[in-house]
Amino acid sequence: MLVLGLETSCDETAAAVVEDGRRVLSDVVSTQVDIHRRWGGVVPELASRNHIVQVMPVLHEALTRAGKTLDDIDLLAVTSGPGLIGALLVGLQVAKGLSLATGKPFVGANHLEGHLLAIRLLEDAPSPPFLGLVVSGGHTSLYEVRDYGNYRLIGRTRDDAAGEAYDKTARILGLPYPGGQPIDELAQKGNPEAIRFPRALPGDNFDVSFSGLKTAVLHHVQKHGVPEGQALHDLCASFQEAVADVLSKKLVAAARRLGHTQLVLCGGVAANSRLRALCKQRAEERGLRMFLPPVRLCTDNGAMIAVAGYEAWRRGLRGDFRLAADPAWRME
Ligand code: KG4
Ligand code: ZN
Repeated sequence: MLVLGLETSCDETAAAVVEDGRRVLSDVVSTQVDIHRRWGGVVPELASRNHIVQVMPVLHEALTRAGKTLDDIDLLAVTSGPGLIGALLVGLQVAKGLSLATGKPFVGANHLEGHLLAIRLLEDAPSPPFLGLVVSGGHTSLYEVRDYGNYRLIGRTRDDAAGEAYDKTARILGLPYPGGQPIDELAQKGNPEAIRFPRALPGDNFDVSFSGLKTAVLHHVQKHGVPEGQALHDLCASFQEAVADVLSKKLVAAARRLGHTQLVLCGGVAANSRLRALCKQRAEERGLRMFLPPVRLCTDNGAMIAVAGYEAWRRGLRGDFRLAADPAWRME
């Protein structure tokens, strides 16, 4: 079964052709970061406008690279939530239009389910049940994946998402948006023990909190000025250590408490080198298996939406023309 996945929920216009929910034939991502960078974050109206410009060329490119035409496609999968409403509508209306014109079925896919199921594209992929930590610019949520379509939210951030903490910290330090990658790179040459930033582990549950950490960085900068040279490397490494420490601790603690042996990290922040290393190390120390998608599959892409759409289709979900975009769609 050939699925064309289409993603326009935030600031990436992406399309991919995936066979049987497992084999990627093409995967095209057009990012808008250069457009949003000067504003220090995603501007929803600019995002929608640029999706309109990019969506057809990106779709066309995905089909061309896969060596397919629309005729070959069996199912159109499109992100219908959660995300920015105007941005979601672009992808959804295109999918509906193509479905109407070609007679091909379409299905609405959940963006977070896409992140969680992207791991299925690895050759050595876990089957449910597993524990999945989604860490992105908009979400930090821990899910028990009991089966496809059966998800239980067991922990989340009380305030900022992990990616949001990176992006806000980068802003404080005068680094470009999005802040994850630049901080990750600067941290490579820093001492993670230079500054002891707070680790908020709110209570005996699986929630996390990052706004205190961001404020601690702000206070540090107000007191000592924006660091340069080695001091900047050290601050980035210390900040990064605090984020990775908290997330990996909660993930492993949840696995042990709930009896899971397979762990998955996903979403844009799962591209983070220290978070990946620490999660792997802590999981292995306790005999748990940590599955890490390649960086390309961590950030937003169309392939993950094709997988989520394929699984939704297999459990009987069908899109109809009344399907609305749902900016706050809760997967559980
Ligand atoms: O999943 P994603 O591409 O989009 C959302 O659905 O939000 O995640 C984007 C987030 C941004 O906040 C970005 O700063 C962060 O992922 N990110 C990283 C890294 N690469 C991207 N955070 C930490 N380390 C990285 N290497
Ligand atoms: Zn995402």
